[in-house]
Amino acid sequence: MAKPNLSTNKSKELFERAKKVIPGGVNSPVRAFEPYPFFVNHAKGSKLYGVDGETYTDYCMAYGALLMGHANSDVRRAVEEQLPKGTLYGVPTELEIKFAEQISKVSPCVEMLRVVNSGTEATMHALRVARGFTGRKKIIKFEGGFHGAHDSVLVKAGSGATTFGTPTSLGIPGETTQNTIVLPYNSPEALEETVKREGNEIAAVIVEPVMGNAGLILPKNEYLSYLRKLTKEYGIVLIFDEIITGFRLALGGAQEHYNIKPDMATLGKVLGGGFPIAAFGGRKEIMQNISPSGKVYQAGTFSGNPVSATAAYAVLQILRQKKKEIYPKLEKNSQELKKALVDLASNHHVDAQVYNIASMFQIFFTSQPVYDYTSAKLSDIKKFQAYFHELLKQGVFIPPAQFETCFLSTAHTEDDLKNTISAFDKALHAASTVNRSA
Ligand SMILES: Cc1ncc(COP(=O)(O)O)c(C=O)c1O
Repeated sequence: MAKPNLSTNKSKELFERAKKVIPGGVNSPVRAFEPYPFFVNHAKGSKLYGVDGETYTDYCMAYGALLMGHANSDVRRAVEEQLPKGTLYGVPTELEIKFAEQISKVSPCVEMLRVVNSGTEATMHALRVARGFTGRKKIIKFEGGFHGAHDSVLVKAGSGATTFGTPTSLGIPGETTQNTIVLPYNSPEALEETVKREGNEIAAVIVEPVMGNAGLILPKNEYLSYLRKLTKEYGIVLIFDEIITGFRLALGGAQEHYNIKPDMATLGKVLGGGFPIAAFGGRKEIMQNISPSGKVYQAGTFSGNPVSATAAYAVLQILRQKKKEIYPKLEKNSQELKKALVDLASNHHVDAQVYNIASMFQIFFTSQPVYDYTSAKLSDIKKFQAYFHELLKQGVFIPPAQFETCFLSTAHTEDDLKNTISAFDKALHAASTVNRSA
């Protein structure tokens, strides 16, 4: 495996330059890490190629957006054919209908949908529609759940918000979040108590069915079905935020994997094959409240643009045609990496919890099982950092923070896995040499 050039001077220089004109030197906080992030020259398949000539096997995969690896040739060909025909029309296309028809075929709860440009937009609009539909104000989210960087959900949020110590952001007036109730994930008791007390005022519950922004946290048995039952009983709109899990846990996302039909779902990341596109959809009765057929306003100049829609349509075609080989193989590979991490952690006498599902996996440096945000935060961050930096040195790039998830793609090869496992060995040795942080 090509190891990174240990001197990454060019990246260092670029970061210094970036910090002068871009806050923190990055356009999204999760991209920053100590002492400085490497800068990318280009990417292909499972690899990122740095500006200093180094190569990394990538398990960040643009935070889960690239299920088929970097620069997938089918997606690229489709986009190249579209480019000369125009990139933005401002009037409808047949492609938008074909696209919506395909999504409603594969995504169980989606009878109608709107296309947007990012997951943040999708969750923001889904919540507005749920409030418009029910005429209620309050929403429930879960600690460590991340639903994009908009006001009503940026409370006890995971991902970069947790990593950088600002799970509740400045700049958001208390009035804006006073209708956001935050509960621990995986606690049917907390849910029941709140819903029984104020269920008639709650418009929506928004949940990452598998949490991917507080590390990787799996739902306990029956938790999601209980959530479904209780929300139905109280007329609360259940929104599965499938920005990560959509098209990743299965073609029909977590809805298909767990056989649970929420009222609405948000989709993004994998969908665009690397292009910016997302969607929110659900039951017709709810979605037809959107303007111009209803009174909930939602709009976007770039929504459904033919470039992103073409890329996403190509992704959907590939996944539909190859789902029987793609999903089992990804699951097998993540199982192999998980087993290696468990065995190596034990060899190196490192307390660790390792979780995987489909093409996602993550390690926590703690002796206790992780089932919610509080237990995730028990992970030893210093050990995680030692593990991360040693992996980087070995030419393996994972998301640089504990409160993220690692992603496999169809582009990862047997050789990649083999080399990654030897890098894990060195990284867990490095973690074992770190004293537990206070
Ligand atoms: C579950 C979830 N919802 C929403 C978002 C926001 O998506 P975007 O970054 O495309 O705005 C993310 C982003 O990581 C996410 O993981």
